[in-house]
Formats: sequence, C-alpha cells, structure tokens
Amino acid sequence: MIIAIDGPAASGKGTVAKAIAAHYGLEHLDTGLLYRATAAAVRKMGAAADDAQAGLRAARELKAGDLADTFLRNRHIGELASIIAAFPAVREALITMQRDFAARETGAVLDGRDIGTFICPDADVKLFVTASPEERARRRTLELEARGEATPYGEVLADIRKRDERDSGRSAAPLKMAEDAVLLDTTELDAQAAIAAGIAAVEAVLRSQQGQ
Ligand code: DC
Repeated sequence: MIIAIDGPAASGKGTVAKAIAAHYGLEHLDTGLLYRATAAAVRKMGAAADDAQAGLRAARELKAGDLADTFLRNRHIGELASIIAAFPAVREALITMQRDFAARETGAVLDGRDIGTFICPDADVKLFVTASPEERARRRTLELEARGEATPYGEVLADIRKRDERDSGRSAAPLKMAEDAVLLDTTELDAQAAIAAGIAAVEAVLRSQQGQ
C-alpha cells in the first residue's frame, strides 16, 4: 500500500504521515528532507542558493544517510530548500530515490508537495493536509522556540506566505491537491485530533475501494 500525503509547510502533514505509517506498519519518507539535504549540501559547497548547477550536483550525490541530520530542520535550510526545489533538474534528480522508496514491498507513506500529483500518481490513498497560514505560523513559531530558534510570529508568518507562494507558483510539480485526494484541514485540530482524522480518512478510502 502506498499513501501519499501532501500539503504546505507546518500543516501537520509530517505528524499525520508518521502516525499513519506507524498505524499501518508502513515505512515513512519525509521527502522535504531530500530538498533540505540538497540545500544544505549546496550551502556547504559555498554556492549561492540560486545556483542550479550546484543544486543538481548536490541532488545527484545525495545519499539516504544524509537525511538524518537534525540541522536540516533549521528555518533557513527550509527557505533554501524551497528555492532549490523550484529547479526542474534538481527535482528530476530526486525522483528515483522517492519512487524506489515507494516501491518497497512493505508499503510506504511519503509526504511532501507533489507526491499524489507527480511522484506516486497511482498511490492507494492520497491526503492533502492543510491549515490556515496564521495557524501554521503559530505552530512553527512554537516549534522554533522549542528548538532554541525563537523567531517573532510576524516573521514566521511572512516566511510561510513566501514559501506557499514559491511552492505553489513554480512551474515544476507545484504544490497542489490531487483531484483524487481527500482534504484534511487541521486548522481547528490539535495533533491527536489531526492524526485521528487522518487515519479515519484512510480507512474511509480503503473501505470505499473494498466496496468497488
Ligand atoms: O516539507 P518541508 O518544509 O520540509 O519542505 C522544504 C521545501 O522542500 C519546501 O518548501 C518545498 C520543497 N519540497 C518540494 O518541493 N517537494 C516535496 N515533495 C517536498 C518538499
């Protein structure tokens, strides 16, 4: 079984994806980490964020072991990742790693921006997890504070809006809801309620497929 979960930054998709994977005994890949690790490698090379050639080289050299670094969750790396992710060649270089992960026999949950629309268009279940920009900024502000990266709410909200615009506005595999995805709005939900709603949505899709 393949479950594709997409959504904007801080929508709760990672939390929901991890819990759904644990619930069904599936492997989980946070595909944002691929773009974050690529961005971190570009930075390490000393190249500019908008250097597409450096991005391509970094994406081609990426290994699964590069995804474990907690530094990748850093706010600035997220911003760089969003810039690098707009380059079609960078995206192309990361396709195989994602599709190979999805194809594993145990089944998989992948979360990102283009999983249901592009990486796994035939996924068994697709969810689109979202929340209002203000709520996502509130969550991200708390998260950053807990990680010792305290940032004013207004700045976080501006970051979120900029990232939404870039991720949705790019021409290569932009963030958008797949036609056959189930929408999960977590604005009014805490983590536990979002997880429960996510699992209920998967169950409903699986039941409807059994009935076919
Ligand atoms: O989900 P995240 O915040 O860790 O992702 C960081 C950036 O990576 C995001 O702003 C856009 C890019 N990304 C993407 O383009 N496609 C994906 N499937 C996952 C992430």
